[in-house]
Amino acid sequence: MSNSQNLQLLKELYIYKSMGFSYVDKLQSVQNNTKNRSIVTWDDLEKTVKNCFLCELSKSRKNTVFGNGNKNAKVMFIGEAPGMVEDESGDVFVGRSGELLTKMIENVLNIPRDEVYITNMLKCKPPSNASATKNQINSCSDYLTSQINLVSPKLIVALGQSVYQYLSNDDSSLSEARMSISKYKEISVITTYHPSYLLRNPSIKKQAHQDLLKIKSFLDNL
Ligand code: URA
Repeated sequence: MSNSQNLQLLKELYIYKSMGFSYVDKLQSVQNNTKNRSIVTWDDLEKTVKNCFLCELSKSRKNTVFGNGNKNAKVMFIGEAPGMVEDESGDVFVGRSGELLTKMIENVLNIPRDEVYITNMLKCKPPSNASATKNQINSCSDYLTSQINLVSPKLIVALGQSVYQYLSNDDSSLSEARMSISKYKEISVITTYHPSYLLRNPSIKKQAHQDLLKIKSFLDNL
């Protein structure tokens, strides 16, 4: 390890200490693992996420929310971050927006929910449902990258603007992002409204329905 890497590591350890941590489990080197896909296993990854203390959300969470579903799914849904119900249970999309997401998948796409893989960009709940910060997204990004590599889906459905912007590294608004199919590495990405936004704005249901038909047609043509 070079001196500057040592310094960076030391700085991070001081940050943990100032946050009140006196001990951290030996971390799996997710960063190295993601460079060599064959080393990452679901078990290791889930364990690493459970023991993650890379950002301040680790101090306020009740549970990490890893994600679940078919690990060989053709389609992967990615939301922003767990809400209160998910934080309590440790399960992904199980609150009101989860119920709506299930209806979108089962009633419009005609796929049982457990046939798709569902996760979030962040694995811990932000306080008061605040938007994910850059620092939180960066701290969690290796976990999401590993999940995408492991599932290796044909299609990613980005639920909301922040997920689109992160995956595409592009600042376009949600309305622009919905217009086209973008790419995350080689994987196609279709962007639609986040279910919790839909719950707050029922008048845009029609547009969301159009997005779902686009997703269905993509999957039917695989
Ligand atoms: N909103 C999300 O983005 N993810 C969840 O798991 C729940 C609500």
